[in-house]
Amino acid sequence: MLCQLHPLEINPKTGEPFLRLGAPYQNIILTPPRQGDQSALIQHMNDPAIYRWLNKPPVPFLLEHADARLQFVKGESDATLEFLRKSAQDFPDGPLQFVDACPVRYLREVKEDGTDVLLGDVGFRRWKQTQEDDAKKQAGDPTIQYAIGDWLAVSHHGKGIMTAAIGLLMTAWAIPRMGVRYVVAHTLAGNIGSDRVLEKNGFVNIGVFYNKKIAGGEGKFLTFLEWRHEEVSINET
Ligand SMILES: CC(C)(COP(=O)(O)OP(=O)(O)OC[C@H]1O[C@@H](n2cnc3c(N)ncnc32)[C@H](O)[C@@H]1OP(=O)(O)O)[C@@H](O)C(=O)NCCC(=O)NCCS
Repeated sequence: MLCQLHPLEINPKTGEPFLRLGAPYQNIILTPPRQGDQSALIQHMNDPAIYRWLNKPPVPFLLEHADARLQFVKGESDATLEFLRKSAQDFPDGPLQFVDACPVRYLREVKEDGTDVLLGDVGFRRWKQTQEDDAKKQAGDPTIQYAIGDWLAVSHHGKGIMTAAIGLLMTAWAIPRMGVRYVVAHTLAGNIGSDRVLEKNGFVNIGVFYNKKIAGGEGKFLTFLEWRHEEVSINET
């Protein structure tokens, strides 16, 4: 039977699917969110070096916020995995089915004793501005527009981890399993690290514009970046 979770690996002890980053980051994996991630989320979401660059997170970030966040991202991941497991029965000989989310999004550092520590999050969602039109579209529709968001524990900034994680998610999952062809990112102007991570993954920096609506009426300058999938013709290679 074709494994509809391809190319995710499965942890033989826990049964949890995961993606492992390539060298030199093999000790970092992407997994589904877990019940129990609340305390690490609270720790990082209350770090000004993270929340100052995010779009209106609650400050302080309390247990109720962590619970709500986890319920949302874990629910999405669980539903995607459930759909793929059912698809394995419905389409035992393939083809691989498209989905509209990535079930693995939480970065974790695996320690020598096998335990792991939550380091960050990277996820795709349908872009708000086009959500109404896109809601009717089937997963895998190449005209769906996505937005990307991420954060990483400050202890691990500047080592190339998020650049590698986004590259892996795009090539291993977003492009082949979600059919993603267009992604936008809005970073707060001056978030050079975030812009660089995206640029290194093929996003084009369109420029800075003023957005009045953000932060409950307080306007902000945002950098707009976009990524388009380049169809490579076999004849051109
Ligand atoms: C954005 C973020 C996820 C990047 O993760 P990361 O793993 O540290 O990023 P990487 O190490 O892969 O790459 C960072 C790049 O930005 C560069 N950079 C970082 N801060 C910089 C600064 N102040 N000035 C210039 N370049 C900077 C690094 O040099 C590196 O580029 P290089 O490889 O060309 O040298 C992380 O900084 C973070 O969590 N920030 C707070 C939350 C956030 O901004 N989320 C994004 C919201 S849109």
